[in-house]
Amino acid sequence: MILINAAITASLFSFLYLFHRRRCCKHPLMRDYPILGMLPSVLFNMWRIHDFCTEILKKQGGSGEFKGPWFTKMHYLITCDSLNVQHMLCKSFDNYIKGPEFREIFKPFGDGVVTADSETWKYSRTILPSSNIGSCTTTRKGGRSSRCLQSLHLQDVLGYDPYCLSIDFPEVAIEKAFNEAEESIFYRHTVPKCVWKLQKWLQIGQEKKMTEACKTLDRFIHARIASKRVELLSKCNENEMGEAHVDLLTALMGQEQAHDDRFLRDDEFNLFVAGRDTITSSLTWFFWLVTKHPLVEAKILEEIKDNFEANYEGVLGIEEVKKLVYLHGALCEALRLFPPVSIERKQAIKDDTLPSGHRVNGNTMILFSLYAMGRCEEIWGKDCLEFKPERWISERGEVVYAPAYKFIAFNAGPRICLGKDLAFVQMKMVAAAILRKYRFQVVEGHSPTPSHSIVLLMKNGLKARIMKRL
Ligand code: HEM
Repeated sequence: MILINAAITASLFSFLYLFHRRRCCKHPLMRDYPILGMLPSVLFNMWRIHDFCTEILKKQGGSGEFKGPWFTKMHYLITCDSLNVQHMLCKSFDNYIKGPEFREIFKPFGDGVVTADSETWKYSRTILPSSNIGSCTTTRKGGRSSRCLQSLHLQDVLGYDPYCLSIDFPEVAIEKAFNEAEESIFYRHTVPKCVWKLQKWLQIGQEKKMTEACKTLDRFIHARIASKRVELLSKCNENEMGEAHVDLLTALMGQEQAHDDRFLRDDEFNLFVAGRDTITSSLTWFFWLVTKHPLVEAKILEEIKDNFEANYEGVLGIEEVKKLVYLHGALCEALRLFPPVSIERKQAIKDDTLPSGHRVNGNTMILFSLYAMGRCEEIWGKDCLEFKPERWISERGEVVYAPAYKFIAFNAGPRICLGKDLAFVQMKMVAAAILRKYRFQVVEGHSPTPSHSIVLLMKNGLKARIMKRL
């Protein structure tokens, strides 16, 4: 009897398997199991998800379909084909939106510029002109690190937080909350919606962390808004407005919707994530790559020395860092190999065919891997996996231009990153200030791995020993 039952069960599963294989997509990305689809392959390779995705996209010629379990809507088209990306981000921009599902997954961002579509997005974009986007914490970061010649987590040092550099490196609640919210958003991409929804309802696992993180973030941002209101009011009373330092929050408060705390909270949150972790991520991977390539490090130092007096003690300014072409190339390489936003998603409004020949409609979730694009032989050549700042420098010693839909780290088209220029200035100032004075040595046995987060941070930070240059 047991044998008969086993035989019936086995035949049923074989039938389901064969049936599913026949009806499954023409270009499956990975092994497609009955009922569970390709999800087991993803979960099995989660520890190296970005490299795994890069490998399979390469095998599939740049694009392929991912099918999740039968009972879910986890059906994605994944691509790293630069023509597809150019099509979605530039040529047919109006047809490709973030969509309501994106906003549901990215709930902590509210209706801010990163998640908004159409008119709301246009409005957010107009009130955040790139000239307004600026802050200056760089000098202090470069200066204060001289106090510590012990091992430290560089990633924490480079993130936003004035207390990160205190000798005992305390756990900073707001840092932790940002990281947990970003990890939870990533998690929501890897499990069926019903799973994370259930976890949210039961308040367990990653969703519990998300709720706690959102509470901390909301408290922090609302407190900032309240104290800024008091500050502006007192300045207004004392007629000092002309001298007020116009930071981003002050600029946002100058808008029509300044009385709306929700509007201020959403845009402030969006700018925090957009401008904080991206720079943290880029600099962390940059310093790690530089420590692994002493020749590159030597060339960066030589360039700084050639351009500025050897005994120059101050921090380089905006115009000065423009002269550092080799350093620019090294940062572009770090961004190419480790793009802080490693994956993006889009949804088509109307049916369309991508340049790769894939048909898409309103139900197709399209993911494009910025990480895989940075490692694509068709774009960067056979040496695409090498860290080579030289590829960014022309024979005339100028920075080589690469179209944004190929060098995708800052996105492309009308939604290109608003903080790109500022980011380069900040990164160059910090990198030059630190490298001129200090030498890094990664702590033995510490091998960085990308975190499971929407921003490509290092899972356990970058543990390094810092020594003063003689
Ligand atoms: C190395 C640093 C940075 C990188 C790699 C980077 C990358 C990106 C990427 C890939 C996007 C598109 C995200 C998406 O559509 O899902 C984006 C958007 C954006 N970034 Fe950056 N970013 C950086 C720094 C900054 C800074 C410093 C700011 C300003 C504080 C900033 C402000 C923005 C804003 C406002 C958007 C939304 C643009 C829109 O949707 O219209 N970014 N960035």
